[in-house]
Amino acid sequence: YVLSAGAQHVPGYNYDEAKIPPYTMLDPLVMLDGTPVKTAAQWGVRRREIVGLFEENVFGKTPKSAKVPLRAKVIEMDAHALGGLAVRKQVDLYFSEQGDAGPKMRLLVYLPSHAKGPVPVVLGLNFGGNQTVIDDAGIQPTMVWVKAKPALKLEHVVPEEKTRGSQMKEWQVRMILERGYGLATAYYGDLEPDFKDADAYSVRRLFQTEFAADDWGALGAWAWGLSRAVDYLISDKAVDAKRIAVTGHSRLGKAADWAAAQDMRIAVLLSTESGKGGQSLERRGIGESVEHLQHSFPYWFCANYAQWVGKDQEIPADGNLMLALMAPRPVYVASAAGDEWSDPKGEFLSAVSASRVYALLGHQGLAVTEMPAVDVAVHAWGSDVGYHVRSGVHDVTAFDWEQYLSFLDEHDGRGAR
Ligand code: GCU
Repeated sequence: YVLSAGAQHVPGYNYDEAKIPPYTMLDPLVMLDGTPVKTAAQWGVRRREIVGLFEENVFGKTPKSAKVPLRAKVIEMDAHALGGLAVRKQVDLYFSEQGDAGPKMRLLVYLPSHAKGPVPVVLGLNFGGNQTVIDDAGIQPTMVWVKAKPALKLEHVVPEEKTRGSQMKEWQVRMILERGYGLATAYYGDLEPDFKDADAYSVRRLFQTEFAADDWGALGAWAWGLSRAVDYLISDKAVDAKRIAVTGHSRLGKAADWAAAQDMRIAVLLSTESGKGGQSLERRGIGESVEHLQHSFPYWFCANYAQWVGKDQEIPADGNLMLALMAPRPVYVASAAGDEWSDPKGEFLSAVSASRVYALLGHQGLAVTEMPAVDVAVHAWGSDVGYHVRSGVHDVTAFDWEQYLSFLDEHDGRGAR
């Protein structure tokens, strides 16, 4: 997968706090008709309103009526994977009656082998196929979508062997397992190829062939896939169905955000640099703009999103509202100081703003209101919103995972509190 040129700092956009145009942040606790939200019951109403705003203006609606038949087939299992550290399972999730001939998603699951009972699992989509997450010869490579030169024709190919383990740093599988968590992952291209005009190969086609202005795009399809993985995970007795966390980086952070917003079975969200169209604030007018997202990745969103091009300050659904949809479930927001394109400060301000909803619901949100120093992680037992801005660029690192796993540890007794 290829980042758009210079994802850290695309030239020609504003990166200067002093040049941010005047803007007002949307208030998660005021209804569209101006009524202040003062009770948990009112939040329930406001929450539905906010989901509707995202459906209408950003991601489009995910069809609910048509229920896809889902059949899971364990195609491989090894009780002594990774030198005895893990139980590995590879599971095909079929989305149609056509079996292998129809759309399906291949889930790779690692569970710590010494677990005494059902384990909490972190679920996330990967960019390059399951074989990239760790150098394990037992992983069956996922067919990946490429547009190879010179014809730039979309092709579904077996990935090169050298991609095995190429994203180990981003996934930290051993660290996750050693700390007692499981990992479930699937290739996002199993749901929709990340290319313009590739919806013919999308799971969206299971439901419709034409898309209205408020119908879902690729981010909706990726989020939908995360929920299908949850369907499977909660049926697996070795998994603690109440402790499924979802993670994602960048565009897959946006997908993770949207999945968690719609699917309350997702207990925790760990979102890395989801940026604009994710947890950052489009209204701030710094870093990536709506115009850039719409121009480069129109297929990620619903068609209505285009109407906000050049009107970033007016967008009716922004990152702080997205984060508020997690409340009161634990959420960790991870930024990178070098990732100006995502606007780390916007991600932080969203976390502060959404924390007001946590407070309304009797939970403690983020413990600070001033942006913490680089590499100082803010999370603690009892606090349901965590945040850090680490040094370095747009990426997922061991530091991010150390914080995520500690945050999960801090919420281990969440159900019992
Ligand atoms: C591009 C895009 C971002 C996105 C990123 C990624 O840089 O502009 O919005 O988050 O790709 O997915 O890595």
